[in-house]
Amino acid sequence: MRFAPITDRLADLGGAKWEIHVLAKQMLAAGEDLIQLTIGEPDVPTPAALTAAAKAAIDAGRLGYCNGRGETDLLNALAARYSTRTGRTIGTDQIIALPGTQTALYAVMMALASTGDEVLVGDPMYATYEGIVSSTGATVVPVPLRPEHGFRMQAADVAARITPRTRVLFLNSPHNPTGAVLRAEDIAALGALAIQHDLWIVSDEVYEELVFDGTRFASPFDNPDLAERTVVTASISKSHAAPGFRSGWCVGSPAFSARLLPVAETMLFGNQPFIADMTALAVSQPSPVAAGMASRFARRAALIHARLNGVNGLRVHQPEAGMFAVVDIRATGLSGNDFARRLLAEERLAVMPGESFGTSLAGWLRVSLTQKDELIDEACTRIARLAARQLEKAA
Ligand SMILES: Cc1ncc(COP(=O)(O)O)c(C=O)c1O
Repeated sequence: MRFAPITDRLADLGGAKWEIHVLAKQMLAAGEDLIQLTIGEPDVPTPAALTAAAKAAIDAGRLGYCNGRGETDLLNALAARYSTRTGRTIGTDQIIALPGTQTALYAVMMALASTGDEVLVGDPMYATYEGIVSSTGATVVPVPLRPEHGFRMQAADVAARITPRTRVLFLNSPHNPTGAVLRAEDIAALGALAIQHDLWIVSDEVYEELVFDGTRFASPFDNPDLAERTVVTASISKSHAAPGFRSGWCVGSPAFSARLLPVAETMLFGNQPFIADMTALAVSQPSPVAAGMASRFARRAALIHARLNGVNGLRVHQPEAGMFAVVDIRATGLSGNDFARRLLAEERLAVMPGESFGTSLAGWLRVSLTQKDELIDEACTRIARLAARQLEKAA
């Protein structure tokens, strides 16, 4: 029996990247005592008002089929939200509700790229991006994101990689794993290239509401010169601590949405009315949990910086947003993979190796900020201890 080539293209993308995380989960299930800082889940439950709204909608029988684009109240709520954000009138014909940013990205990329095309993606990148692009048959062209530029994508690095096959510039700001936030000037420079080479811009904005104090979020969709070629994807997973609801959307031009609608209808045909009701409520008001998460994650990132930066050769990059901090361990002479494996075995601490996110983060670790301060503090002690042992051995 034969399988379609997409199964080959996706086969190697999952497992190996998550080895440490899977191992840590097995150790925890076996009752072992360890600190797990591999993945980022919101550190608070979904707000009670939202779960109550979903339950009330179920009780009210909001369980029928929806139209293919999404429930009207949700589309209206999102249109109002993006109209306020952009200062332009965004219509419901520009929005499609989809189950989470992940599905939205998959559908959007299906509509924009195919075999032979190239998609420019910042490296390091969120672990599923390679699969999203290669599902379409297109090729990922990594654009190095450099610590000396705060991991913000530089127009010169993009320009050097544009070819006649380039179709899409795939942005993620705030960025996972580095917590970098593109400035309006960065976006203007990247956007000028997109205009010059007629590229689409896909903008994953799932961390929009987790920007730390002192940094301003900016989006290519808010720039009127770029709006027509930009598609935004987002969800309530992070902003409302509600990843399990799988409730997201994409916003683009009316022409783009008209093209995407049949793709979305073919995949799903509409969202779930009770989840749409709860999401409409969520996006109509300021999130009751986002500001608290952002301030706790900023505090924990500052703690990691204070505890580890300059200690035993370690360097800590200060994130500007999101749920993670990245630590440069190259001075120890170990790869991120080896350091993370030894941390788990010798120190009972699970973090992600930078290599799981791309070659630009080789020799780094990604540390989740979603556990309590005491655990983050103890994790720093363990990271510093392994680095010290490693340096002694090398001396
Ligand atoms: C950068 C990025 N994009 C997308 C997602 C997926 O989000 P969602 O739960 O909305 O599918 C995540 C989840 O961690 C992420 O970090």
